[in-house]
Amino acid sequence: MRVAIIASEAVPWCKTGGLADVVGALPQALVDQSAGKVAPATFLPLYRQVRESIANDPQLQLVETGVEVAVPFSLGPERARFFEVVGHGGPPVYVLDAPHRYDRPRLYDDESGKAYPDNLYRYALLCRGALEAATALMGGVPDVVHAHDWQGGLALAYLRTRYLQTHAHTGAVMTIHNLAYQGLFAGEHRHNIDLDPSAFNLERAEYFGGLNLLKAGIAYADVTTTVSETYAQEITTPDYGCGLDGFLQARGAGRLCGIVNGVDTDVWSPATDKALPANYSVDKVAGKATCRQQLLAEMGLEAAEGEPVLGIVSRFTGQKGLDLVADLVPHLHALGARLIVLGSGDAQLEHRFRYLAECFGDHLAVRVGFDPKLARRIFAGSDILLMPSRFEPCGLNQLYAMHYGTVPVVHAVGGLRDTVLDPGDQALARGEGTGFCFEHPTVVGLHWALERAVKMYRQNPRGWQAVVRSGMTRDVSWAKPARAYLDLYHRVRGR
Ligand code: ADP
Ligand code: GLC
Repeated sequence: MRVAIIASEAVPWCKTGGLADVVGALPQALVDQSAGKVAPATFLPLYRQVRESIANDPQLQLVETGVEVAVPFSLGPERARFFEVVGHGGPPVYVLDAPHRYDRPRLYDDESGKAYPDNLYRYALLCRGALEAATALMGGVPDVVHAHDWQGGLALAYLRTRYLQTHAHTGAVMTIHNLAYQGLFAGEHRHNIDLDPSAFNLERAEYFGGLNLLKAGIAYADVTTTVSETYAQEITTPDYGCGLDGFLQARGAGRLCGIVNGVDTDVWSPATDKALPANYSVDKVAGKATCRQQLLAEMGLEAAEGEPVLGIVSRFTGQKGLDLVADLVPHLHALGARLIVLGSGDAQLEHRFRYLAECFGDHLAVRVGFDPKLARRIFAGSDILLMPSRFEPCGLNQLYAMHYGTVPVVHAVGGLRDTVLDPGDQALARGEGTGFCFEHPTVVGLHWALERAVKMYRQNPRGWQAVVRSGMTRDVSWAKPARAYLDLYHRVRGR
């Protein structure tokens, strides 16, 4: 079965968040779980970041495929060529070379955070280009097109209109990684990207007179998935539906489901992670203490035994509830905890955390930036990971943390609710849970859960080790989620 995966980022080529981790890991997991019967291929833009990551790895090469596409935009056909990334040992990855669209410093926006004005055209080109080229590149018409997030949405709209004849039996799957990003553009642009007129109405891509690319994808998908079961329910309610709750509800239960993300345990393992100063595993945890010591030293902090190190690795956006953490910083002293924050994004939050680090330098260290290696050292060297997200479709950081023996303290929402098990202090200390949850995204809620965690850390080391152990031994691999996607592909193919 041929599965064309269309997305805007994937590790190790280009990444801004968890989407990249998922799109990078899923194809190999699909191959493994189907015993090679499923042949996925990933289609990505050839961003500058992709070119650089290939140039920096002597084993990788960009190879011409000879497949060129001419996408019919109103200003004339836009030409682009597909290259294949060769030498990574995984399922094929095809990248669309259109330097005028993709050769830029960042993936979606300029340095000031302003979205590139031609984003609609950049992703229309990717979606249309991938569909146009897939049959030649994959050795036959794809059995399934699997689009991710708003950047992939148009693929399904084109599939069900422009490619109706040639792809009559191709199944269409849309995965929502984050409903807060919908790809909204002025409605009149639809005339420029060869969108079939039938696609522009309230049942499909239209949203209050504008063009909504995620809605387009959902409208044309046979099945829409999102990245946890709880989030799949939440997004049908006004609180979490980002204006699409009614539309999602109307799709009916059978066409919207949640599949919790996995972890690429080949790449994320404390036993082999090269970014760590020492490796460790659940049965040989000594190395974790070294990671903690070195992390504190690297960050210019000191902590005695019994004083937990809290870590945060995050995009700085309203979603992540970091304002609650900022409000908590003055209480770190009373809690006897140290906090290490790595993240970037919202300028106000960056400023606020820098300022707090100046005021509370004994207890807080902040690094503003995107640093994947430091992120790993934080997952390994912290005792506790904070994730007070206001909403969280799945969340990967809490999974990485648990896998690295770091106990998550999270707001029980979305994927955090599905993946962090908190049966209460006594059961936790018996090893029956994996972290501490709070129900309301307020400073009081966060403080309450953190106090519970700190108390157990300080007063009940054996209980704490039981929590660490159950987090580390929990199955977070891609095996189960990949099988769920395979079931879905079988359901939608051949329609
Ligand atoms: P989201 O996709 O909403 O940002 P996830 O928890 O699913 O949240 O995934 C975030 C991914 O991005 C993880 O791999 C995380 O480690 C990584 N990440 C986030 N911020 C940074 C950062 N500042 N530096 C390095 N990695 C980061
Ligand atoms: C999004 C979500 C995050 C999820 C990731 C991968 O960025 O915010 O919760 O883990 O996608 O699916």
